[in-house]
Formats: sequence, structure tokens, C-alpha cells
Amino acid sequence: MKILVTGGAGFIGSNFVRHVLAESDHTVTVLDKLTYAGNRASLDGLPEDRFSFVRGDIADADLVDGLFSAHDAVVHFAAESHNDNSLDDPRPFLETNIIGTYTLLEAARRHDTRFHHISTDEVYGDLELDDPARFTEQTPYNPSSPYSSTKAGSDLLVRAWVRSFGVQATISNCSNNYGPYQHVEKFIPRQITNVLRGARPKLYGSGENVRDWIHADDHSSAVLRILERGRLGETYLIGADGERNNKDVVELILQGLGQPADAYDLVTDRPGHDLRYAIDSSKLRRELGWSPRFADFAAGLSDTIAWYRDNEAWWAPQKDATEARYLEQGQ
Ligand code: NAD
Ligand code: TYD
Repeated sequence: MKILVTGGAGFIGSNFVRHVLAESDHTVTVLDKLTYAGNRASLDGLPEDRFSFVRGDIADADLVDGLFSAHDAVVHFAAESHNDNSLDDPRPFLETNIIGTYTLLEAARRHDTRFHHISTDEVYGDLELDDPARFTEQTPYNPSSPYSSTKAGSDLLVRAWVRSFGVQATISNCSNNYGPYQHVEKFIPRQITNVLRGARPKLYGSGENVRDWIHADDHSSAVLRILERGRLGETYLIGADGERNNKDVVELILQGLGQPADAYDLVTDRPGHDLRYAIDSSKLRRELGWSPRFADFAAGLSDTIAWYRDNEAWWAPQKDATEARYLEQGQ
């Protein structure tokens, strides 16, 4: 297949591009606007005969139309992706996550293109800390933030375009990703790079909020499996049974970098901060035979710490501006 990957210069999109080129015979074109979150260097060194890059906006209908006519399938990662930014300025989230996805769906409809939509478990809202329940494909949508509500809106657009116009789409909702090439605004890279710079990790609130961590490599293998073998019109939850509270994660990072386990600060909580996310991915495992490769979160985290230690040139240019924004918010 010739696959168009939107948002392929971002954290997970670039991981997916590397995965496809290594594990299949497909060719890849990336369409990416290179916002503050996109980094062309995350795609350096890929084989030129199977990979090309187009800088542009997914909401540019003419550009998108031309690209859809030249590709067999589209995997849509492009998004404004950070909750804290969405609380500060929601507009880009509506423009990219809603209008951008709408623009792609209209092109998929015109060209009858296979479309896979990447989404998040945050569309389901949050769970209580002491509740044994996990999200399934049947959990009702109940998003909390401008980010998660625009992702929920984009999922519902995909479902409507499947039902009303017969678009050949699938959707996946994945839990929190970690791994190399993640922007330093996100929780794990922020804390690793703080410690590498001699600063202390910053935990929101009490640090008890729980996230269900999955390595980005495992997210990518699941998405390729769904693209190749998923049932059209279906939604698949992707997760790797990686529930941890934020305090535990920070303690592992401090330990991995040779610091005392309590060398962190508790800072102002995020408004509306979701308590806990947890994914039941049994549908994906049962129907498509997928399983994660990184079963051990501590080992995956240790590899990730090593990557940030060895790749300061990749993250250093964003670090000061990111911390300046957090400082303004008291975080
Ligand atoms: P990211 O912020 O690292 O990357 C987003 C990419 O999209 C960037 O390269 C950016 O330049 C590009 N982009 C943004 N607006 C664009 C536009 N209008 N046109 C073209 N390109 C544009 O995000 P990420 O963490 O890699 O997330 C990728 C996708 O996965 C998103 O859809 C996100 O909702 C979803 N997701 C993320 C996580 C996570 O833990 N990070 C978990 C589940 C799902
Ligand atoms: P984040 O990486 O922003 O992902 P999400 O909001 O999509 O879950 O945050 C992960 C968790 O870490 C979340 O509970 C908020 C918390 N957090 C901190 O405690 N400190 C920080 O500096 C950041 C960025 C996040």
C-alpha cells in the first residue's frame, strides 16, 4: 500500500512511520504542518525510495484532495495533543482536531480511501482510583478537557461518515504513550529532562492520578495490525496493562538517574485533572491476535531515560520555552 500518514513528524506518528518502513513493504508519505510539536529530525535517515515528506495543514482541502488521490490508505495522527495547552488556548484544538479531521473525511469519502483514525482513551472521561473497572469499546463518551472533547468530536465525525457515507474507516483509542521522540511538554520527558538539567520533577496535585502506560512501539504495531486486518467501521481499544500513579513514575525516573526518590516538587494541580485511565484491550487481542512487546514498564522507561540522556540535541531546543510556559501557569 501507499500510506499517507498525517502528523508523522510528531511523537507517535514518527514511531509509526519507522515501524511501517521496518516491518512491511508499504511506502509512506507524511503530511505534517510542523507545529511547535512536529520535528522533521524525528524522520531523519529514512529510505528515500519508500518515504517522502509534505509540509502542510490537514485543514487545507485542496492539498489534502491531491494527496488522497495518490494514496491507498490514510492513517490520521495529526492533532493538537496536549491537555495543558488546550486549557490555555482551545482554538487550535478545534481547528485541527475537528475541522482538520472533517477535511480528511470529506476527501476519504470522495476518493473511497481506507482511513484509520487515531484517538485516545481520554474520550471516555476518567475512572475512580479505587474502581476496578476499565474502559471498553462500549464505555459511554464523557470527555473532560478541550483536548479530549475535540478528540471525542473527531471520533464521532468518523463514525457518522462511516454510517452516513460508507467511508471505509476504523478507529483506535489508545492509552498514554511513552518512549523516544516525545515532546518535553509531556509528563515523562518533562521529568526526565528536568532531572538531566539539574531541576526537580513537578507533580500535579498529590501525584496520585493514574495513567495506563504503553510503549509507542506497541501502539504502532497495533495500528498497523488494525489497518491491515481490522473490521471496517469498528473501534479498537489499545492498551498494555500499564497502570501506574504519577508519583510511582517519578520515583522510577529519579531512581533511574541516581537521585533520591523524594527529590520532586508538588505543584498546582491541572484544572479538571482526570483521576484515572485504564484500558481493557481484549477485543484487539482476541480478534486480531495483537499483544504488546513491552510487558515491563520499568524496563521500557529505563530505555527511554537512556534515549533522552543520549539525545539532548533533539530535545534541548524546546526545553526552555516549554518550562517558561509552565512557570507562568505555576506548574
Ligand atoms: P504530537 O503532538 O507529538 O504530534 C502531533 C503532530 O501533528 C505534530 O507533528 C504536528 O506538527 C502535527 N500537526 C498538528 N496540527 C496539524 C495540522 N493542522 N496539519 C498537519 N499536521 C499537524 O502528538 P502525539 O502524542 O504523537 O499524538 C498523535 C496522535 O495520537 C494524536 O491524534 C493524539 O490524540 C493520539 N494519542 C496520543 C496519545 C499520547 O499519549 N501521546 C495517546 C493516545 C492517542
Ligand atoms: P500528560 O503527559 O500531559 O498526559 P495526559 O494529560 O494526556 O494524561 O500527563 C500525564 C499525567 O501526568 C497527568 O496525570 C498529568 C500529570 N503531569 C504532572 O504531574 N506533571 C507534569 O509536569 C505534567 C506535564 C503532567
